[in-house]
Amino acid sequence: MNIISAKNYSDLSRRAAGFIAAQVTLKPDCVLGLATGSTPIGIYRDLIERYRRDELDFSRVRAVNLDEYRGLAPTHPRSYAFYMREHLFEHVNIDEDDCFLPDGLAEDAEVECARYDELIEELSGIDLQLLGLGHNGHIGFNEPGDAFIPDTHLVTLSESTIEANSRFFDEGEAQPTSAYTLGIRGILSARRILLVVSGASKAEALQSALCGPVTPRCPASVLQLHPDVTVIADEDALSKMGL
Ligand code: F6R
Repeated sequence: MNIISAKNYSDLSRRAAGFIAAQVTLKPDCVLGLATGSTPIGIYRDLIERYRRDELDFSRVRAVNLDEYRGLAPTHPRSYAFYMREHLFEHVNIDEDDCFLPDGLAEDAEVECARYDELIEELSGIDLQLLGLGHNGHIGFNEPGDAFIPDTHLVTLSESTIEANSRFFDEGEAQPTSAYTLGIRGILSARRILLVVSGASKAEALQSALCGPVTPRCPASVLQLHPDVTVIADEDALSKMGL
C-alpha cells in the first residue's frame, strides 16, 4: 500500500487528479470506478481544468459509479447520476452512454444488482477505482456489519450515514434510506484502487482501516488485502497514523 500525505484538501485534490489523469493517459479506453460525496469534488474540478487545458481526453473512457440511492430518478438533483453530471460528466468529453450507475428506479432490486455486476464484467472490470471513506469505515455503501458482502447489493443505510449525508438534502426533504452499492468483491476486483481521505473527522476511521484488523466492522480494512492501493490523505486525516 502506498500512502501519500497531502498538505491539505487542495493538495489532495491535485495529487489525486494527477493520479487519475495518468491512468487515462496511459490507457485512454480505461474503465474508471467513480465515487460521489464531498471528497472527490476538488478532484473532479481539477480533472475538468486539465481537460480544458487539452491535457486530457475522456472520449474513450468508461465510467462506472460505486453507488446510487434507491428511489431517486437519475434526473433527481440528489441522485448520484445528477451529481456526476454536475461535477464531471457535463464538463468533459466523456460519452454519456459510457457512464454507468445503478438504476435507482429499478423495480426489482435483485435483478438490478445482478445486471450491474454483469455490466462491469462486460466492461472487463475496473482499471482504477476511486474511493472515499465514511466516518464509520464504509466504502461505497458497504456499511459495518457481521460479514463482507461480495456482490452489488441493496443496503439499508446506517443512522450515521444518513446523518452524514443529510447535509446534501434540504430540511424536511425526504432522504433515501437505502442505496445500491458495489460489493466488496466488486471493489477488490478493480486492478488499482485510489482511496482519498480528508479532514480530522476521518482520522480514526483511516487509522482503523489501514492499521487495524481486517474486519467487516470496518469495511475499508479489506483494502489491506488488495495488491495495488494508493491512499492520498491530507495531514489532518493522517494525524492518528503516527507517521
Ligand atoms: C460515495 C461513496 C461513499 C463516500 C463516503 C465519504 O459514492 O461511495 O462511500 O465516499 O461516504 O463521503 P465524503 O467524501 O462526502 O466524506
